[in-house]
Amino acid sequence: MASSFARLARSAERSGRLQVSKEPVDNPPYDIHKLGDVVLRTPARRIGKVDEAVRDLARDMLVSMYAARGIGLAAPQIGVHQQLLVIDLEIEDPASPPLVLVNPEITAVGGSICTYEEGCLSIPGVYLDVVRPSVVDIAYRDEMGRPKRLKADGLMARCIQHEMDHLNGVLFVDRVSDADKLNSGLKEQGFDPADVRSIA
Ligand code: NI
Repeated sequence: MASSFARLARSAERSGRLQVSKEPVDNPPYDIHKLGDVVLRTPARRIGKVDEAVRDLARDMLVSMYAARGIGLAAPQIGVHQQLLVIDLEIEDPASPPLVLVNPEITAVGGSICTYEEGCLSIPGVYLDVVRPSVVDIAYRDEMGRPKRLKADGLMARCIQHEMDHLNGVLFVDRVSDADKLNSGLKEQGFDPADVRSIA
């Protein structure tokens, strides 16, 4: 997910097994695929064993995400079809550890149905309203393979749902109901509205 309010972060060299510097680098390990690229539409597979290779991948995803000033990134966005997400809502706080989600599942939704403007590193420059539940309960494994549960609301709930959609080959523009704003927003940024697979 893209942040429309990102400022430059200072370097991070603090605790956290997967914490990497949040300083944006010029040559991130991965390029982020953009709307129209078929890899974004391929469902991701569950991860069997959470090993050092998975942690290395998560680190590289974080570096790539920070380079793009994003707050969330799903493995399919870098062309890796594994159920792995990284999220960091505090990209300006070098001491705040990121969240790594392996094989996340939504176990309950609640709260209200709310509208919020989303963006995506795979659709840069496009910010549009999406309707989603305001609260989600999820089950997942952390970067050490430990089973975890989390109840999320606010921006975290929004970001988790957005990133989990990526694991199913779904993009936020598929959920935009205002067709006029969708088409003009995409065209302004050079994207083809024909690449949307509407489920709104
Ligand atoms: Ni996204």
